[in-house]
Amino acid sequence: MTLKEISSRTFANHWKRKSPHDRFPPLTRLVVLKWRQFQVETLGGYRFRGQERDFVRRAYDGMGQDTFEVINGAQEWLNWRQIPMALRKRVPEEAALVLDLGCGPGSSTRILAWHGMPTWRILGMDFSEDLIRQARRSVEAGDFCTASGKQPIVEFVVGSVLEPFHDASGTLLADHTVDYVNSSGIVGHHLSAEGFTSLAAELRRVVKPHGFVALDSGPHLKEAVIRRTMERFGFVLRTKVRSVPLDPRPQLVFQSAGGQEPHA
Ligand SMILES: C[S@@+](CC[C@H](N)C(=O)[O-])C[C@H]1O[C@@H](n2cnc3c(N)ncnc32)[C@H](O)[C@@H]1O
Repeated sequence: MTLKEISSRTFANHWKRKSPHDRFPPLTRLVVLKWRQFQVETLGGYRFRGQERDFVRRAYDGMGQDTFEVINGAQEWLNWRQIPMALRKRVPEEAALVLDLGCGPGSSTRILAWHGMPTWRILGMDFSEDLIRQARRSVEAGDFCTASGKQPIVEFVVGSVLEPFHDASGTLLADHTVDYVNSSGIVGHHLSAEGFTSLAAELRRVVKPHGFVALDSGPHLKEAVIRRTMERFGFVLRTKVRSVPLDPRPQLVFQSAGGQEPHA
């Protein structure tokens, strides 16, 4: 398969696939995506927002691929901008272990893989069995690749981010073995302050001494709470990554204490 074919199956496809709005430039597309989300959520009465674990899991489990894509369209728009800016030179090129918390059907994982190295092992984690099934099907279909057209190492595991992290074989992730953690559309949208405290403790356990963690802020869990909690667990805020200058919900990039920014 040529690079052109691979890219059209992944990056370009992912932007444009099933989207009737290709003619719009990206910012305009965001408005369209938001409108479609509003139609499904508000006009259609589809409920999935909240912090109550079982309610959220049932909502995502029963969503189906098409509804998920509408519900998550604006988030994905943000992800294509935020994830590469947050990653920027913060992950070693060789053999890094990268986690994607609340990965859904692999929508954010695909972006990490696209901007990553084929030597990275990327582990997507989500508590929705349906979404993880979809993600695994995408891997089998060869739907993940790096920008250079290489096959990345991508695995998915069913699991709550509020419990100790396991890999796809059920093995507990060892202490201080993770180079980089991404979360998109989960921390600020679905976690309570209490739940986030347990996640921060697990992040402290698994992340390498100089490793990075990029966390989404959102309507439920605001920047200040995320920052205070991460600081309690030994992380330092390095930067905030906004999709556009006035983006009110940046991804917050932390580093475990003692580390230095690559360009510092
Ligand atoms: C808005 S979607 C984001 C999906 C993907 N990260 C993206 O940005 O395209 C939020 C995801 O978080 C997952 N989620 C919510 N709470 C979770 C929890 N406690 N543990 C694991 N996954 C969770 C949901 O199942 C859903 O797939």
